[in-house]
Amino acid sequence: MELYANLVESFCRRIHSTTNFAILIFTVVCTFAFLNSHGNSFLPQNLPNRKTSRFINNAENGFEKQREVTEIDPELAKIIHGGNSLPNYFLTPGIEDSVFKNTTLSFVHYPKGGGTTIKDCVSKINQKYGKAEPFTVFAKNAGETKEKMLNGGFDDVDFFMGTYGFSLCEHLKPRRCAHFTVLRDPYDRMVSHYFFCKYGGGSNAPCNQPIEEFALLVRSIFFHQLTCLHKCQKGTAPEGGWMCDREQLEVEQIVNYNFTEIEMVLNYAEQQMEEMFAVVGILEELDTTLLLLQEALGIPFHDECQNSHSNARPKESEERKEERIQAKKLLMENKDVQRALEADVRLYQRAKKIFEKQKERSLNFKSLYKK
Ligand SMILES: *[C@@H]1O[C@H](CO)[C@@H](O)[C@H](O)[C@H]1NC(C)=O
Ligand SMILES: *[C@@H]1O[C@H](CO)[C@@H](O)[C@H](O)[C@H]1NC(C)=O
Repeated sequence: MELYANLVESFCRRIHSTTNFAILIFTVVCTFAFLNSHGNSFLPQNLPNRKTSRFINNAENGFEKQREVTEIDPELAKIIHGGNSLPNYFLTPGIEDSVFKNTTLSFVHYPKGGGTTIKDCVSKINQKYGKAEPFTVFAKNAGETKEKMLNGGFDDVDFFMGTYGFSLCEHLKPRRCAHFTVLRDPYDRMVSHYFFCKYGGGSNAPCNQPIEEFALLVRSIFFHQLTCLHKCQKGTAPEGGWMCDREQLEVEQIVNYNFTEIEMVLNYAEQQMEEMFAVVGILEELDTTLLLLQEALGIPFHDECQNSHSNARPKESEERKEERIQAKKLLMENKDVQRALEADVRLYQRAKKIFEKQKERSLNFKSLYKK
């Protein structure tokens, strides 16, 4: 108000001079133009809750990307589009809370990305509340599992998890279903994967070789988790049911190693991440991740499991720490490794942006950290 009083006062003083008057009009017009162009930043940034939130999606751009990937492979496009999976709880207005609280879940386990913590947490909660253990989907049983789902099996299972957890929602149609995942910096993840293997843990790639070679074999795990297919056909089974291949096709095989098309698929996956996952967590903020999962899915992840990072190494020696720092440096400086991890780095960057938006819209986060 004072600003306007001052403006009126100076207006009265200056009106005697036409030159000054012209300057004044110019200033007023510019001020309004400025206020207009910055209009939104003068409004409160944090919207009250998800019901009133509006996430601006670049729909037209999305349709174009979807069309491109549909031309490459309609099944792959369908899985990434995720028509049967619930979209992001915090960023999608208009879906009742109760829908998210009463849905089949599939946790997409990004290896060495905090999955064990989530797994242990789910076990703990299930034991406490007398619920069944989740069904785990990994490389060896994924094709068979998807086939059984398409044929109407798994009636009694409402929680799935595993490295092959993505796309399960599409196979469970018409059952309501939501995916969620927890990601981590892909270089840190690779270092962790390598040393886990070195010190005796299981791995899909041999680690008796330099870490760069290991990384070039393992590549962008998350991108491959989102884009592998088990080809399924209806009517080929003896009783007219579905049959699915036991071996999955990786994205490179689907597109015949055409890197332009891999880029298109990656673009589409980035763009669709809010549609793919009801919640995206990140390991670097595990407690907040648990808080968001609890709010969205109505499962007491945070109440039961905060401060419980399963694979945390409380007494790691200085030597081991240094070993990890050096290993990460080697990876980050290697151009081939950079290329091999680019897809996961991009997806992780996108996940971090989504994570921040989820926090902004989370009531739990606000009441716990922003008093
Ligand atoms: C949960 O959803 C199913 C349909 O998917 C419905 O039959 C059931 O009544 C719902 N339960 C609750 C408690 O809302
Ligand atoms: C790779 O894919 C793009 C886009 O679909 C296509 O235009 C191009 O001809 C393909 N390249 C080869 C070598 O097949």
